[in-house]
Amino acid sequence: MKGSEEIREGQLIFAKECSACHGVRGKGAGSPSLAMGVVAPDLTGIKQRNGGYFPREFVSRFIMGRLEKEDPFSAMPDFSTVGLRHVYPNGGADGEVLETDFANLLDYLEAIQE
Ligand code: HEC
Repeated sequence: MKGSEEIREGQLIFAKECSACHGVRGKGAGSPSLAMGVVAPDLTGIKQRNGGYFPREFVSRFIMGRLEKEDPFSAMPDFSTVGLRHVYPNGGADGEVLETDFANLLDYLEAIQE
């Protein structure tokens, strides 16, 4: 288990970058995703869908657009190109994905698995 500080930090990032589509608690079906006619998957069930193991490497590559998607026109942004930009709305790190931020985000995702 990771420290609660990392997880809390990751939760903030998730709220800004992901919750619109994936829902405040990662349960899926945020309203923009419904408006787009797609349903963003429930992210709390990744571990369950994966035989009880959280595939951190897969998730990380997926978010960074490094995996071939089943649907090439998927609505899910490629964060390696758009960056985690809401984290620093005014700062110099705008549009970047900082390694610690990304690690915290993954810690958060791992922590919300059911
Ligand atoms: C604009 C809407 C949108 C945003 C914003 C978004 N996603 Fe997604 N996400 C989707 C959609 C739609 C899918 C399913 C289609 C696909 O495979 O791309 C998906 C799929 C995923 C998957 C794969 C789940 C699985 O079980 O295979 C992961 C992991 C994921 N998103 C994480 C994130 C994270 C973390 C963020 C924030 C950094 C984020 N998403 C932001 C729409 C979004």
